Amino acid sequence: MNNEISKRRTFAIISHPDAGKTTLTEKLLLYGGALELAGSVTAKKKQRETSSDWMELEKKRGISISSTVLQFEYSGYQFNLLDTPGHKDFSEDTYRVLLAVDAAIMVIDAGKGIENQTLKLFEVCRKRGVPIFTFMNKLDRPAKSPLELIDQVEKELNIQTFPVNWPLESGPFFKGVYDRVKKQVHMFEKVPGGAYKAPVSVHDFSDDSVKEKLSEKAYEEIAEELEMLEFAHNGLDIDEVLSGKTTPVFFGSAANNFGVELLLKGFLEYSGEPVSRNANGTPVPLDKPGFTGFVFKIQTNMNPKHRDRVVFIRACSGKFTRDMTAYNTRTGREVRLSNSQSVFGQEREIREEGYAGDIIGFITNADLRIGDTLTTDPKIVYNEIPRFAPEVFAYMESNTVSNYKAFRKGVDHLLAEDLVQSFELAGSTSATPLLGAVGPLQFEVLQYRMKDEYGVDAVLVSKPWTVLRWVDPAVSVDELKKVVPYDCAHGKDDKDRLVILFPNGWTMRYFMEKNKEIILHESPVTG
Ligand code: G4P
Repeated sequence: MNNEISKRRTFAIISHPDAGKTTLTEKLLLYGGALELAGSVTAKKKQRETSSDWMELEKKRGISISSTVLQFEYSGYQFNLLDTPGHKDFSEDTYRVLLAVDAAIMVIDAGKGIENQTLKLFEVCRKRGVPIFTFMNKLDRPAKSPLELIDQVEKELNIQTFPVNWPLESGPFFKGVYDRVKKQVHMFEKVPGGAYKAPVSVHDFSDDSVKEKLSEKAYEEIAEELEMLEFAHNGLDIDEVLSGKTTPVFFGSAANNFGVELLLKGFLEYSGEPVSRNANGTPVPLDKPGFTGFVFKIQTNMNPKHRDRVVFIRACSGKFTRDMTAYNTRTGREVRLSNSQSVFGQEREIREEGYAGDIIGFITNADLRIGDTLTTDPKIVYNEIPRFAPEVFAYMESNTVSNYKAFRKGVDHLLAEDLVQSFELAGSTSATPLLGAVGPLQFEVLQYRMKDEYGVDAVLVSKPWTVLRWVDPAVSVDELKKVVPYDCAHGKDDKDRLVILFPNGWTMRYFMEKNKEIILHESPVTG
């Protein structure tokens, strides 16, 4: 069992939209042997538009709200790559996925540097001390200087960097990279459309063939930079990487397959085996006999014909076998873990077994919710999945009075699924709670499902707040009432915890400055 567990690598790619996450995913699959020719993932995106099986909404918008986990093997290791939806499909799900991984690859567009969504996702990883690998992408385009890029990562993300390789020029002159660990130059050759692996030749930096390919000026500049790096970065400390203090940095171009294999190899070399998860404050050994895991994602109605529901579990210890039974610690009931699936895009396969670190999907209508622990040992309960502060708010109303009953039923059912968060505001006259989401797509999905499953045309009335904070439990409602400014609101979440809503971050900071005795939290504090 230990041998199997140590071969698992479960990770996500985090990036700002357009930095190249999809392209890199595709290329990792290409190098992992899961795709013959790159282009298939994108081709699949197009196929979906004509496939009747996929959720209407997904077709309409041409986005992948239901993509999940891709599995591939490389060098005898089992990789589980989890998707973190971006763009408008950014949602609480995106954050939760990061609770199920053991490492993340952060893709940065080398022409743009760090962008806002990368920063948000990075913060979620940092809070858990997740190891982060950085891939500076699009070096084949005009890029910021590599020194500027790593300096930005260090300053803005407050993390140390260790450039594992270093680019030999950029834009149309991008030739390859220097591997600082192995002290070798990798020269790349383009292949049409980046469809198959890029041919590589390996040289010493002092080889004439390297000097010939670079201008004298470029060669000298790079030699100087490499010398400076040796001086500034004394070796890569693997513990610093595993604790999320240092990020190994790789340069390349995903579209051209440049540097992708070096990234994959480096990732394998510097990432560790699955990380054990805490239950009641103590790490549960990965090889504990039996099986434990927690639910981090639920996808409903991927296939409207069957109204199916896929529950994704992160396996945390032991071995899973198909049809085994486990307790759900929330309900105290036993659940039979049948219909286990491996998912590759739209294709699914029955899954017979899984080990700590794996992501297992179950097609089931059993009473399972996000954050539930499934365990053969009822004493193990994994820490609750935290709530993330919503950034968009709206009230949902029914268009017609006649179907109010169906509307109410839909609202109650869908809120119970944690599709969005709900809040009761002080002084509100609305019949329904205020809804909060991390991204607008969560509202669209809600609206879609109200129509599709309950036959109700629900109208969303947006509200102007963009920041919500949970108030420290030591503060009373009366104390709060006195100090909340007129352009803000206060109320309670569905577990009766006090919250304040601010129109923007500036107002929140001003409030914090004026009310130092009131402590605000980005996620709820139980107490
Ligand atoms: P995302 O998932 O992070 O949103 O990004 P995605 O991979 O879809 O890439 C966004 C755009 O950047 C795509 O171009 C993609 O081809 C391009 N791209 C990705 N990696 C590289 C790279 O290394 N070099 C260059 N020059 N471009 C890259 P597009 O025009 O939106 O789509 P397409 O028509 O090229 O597929």
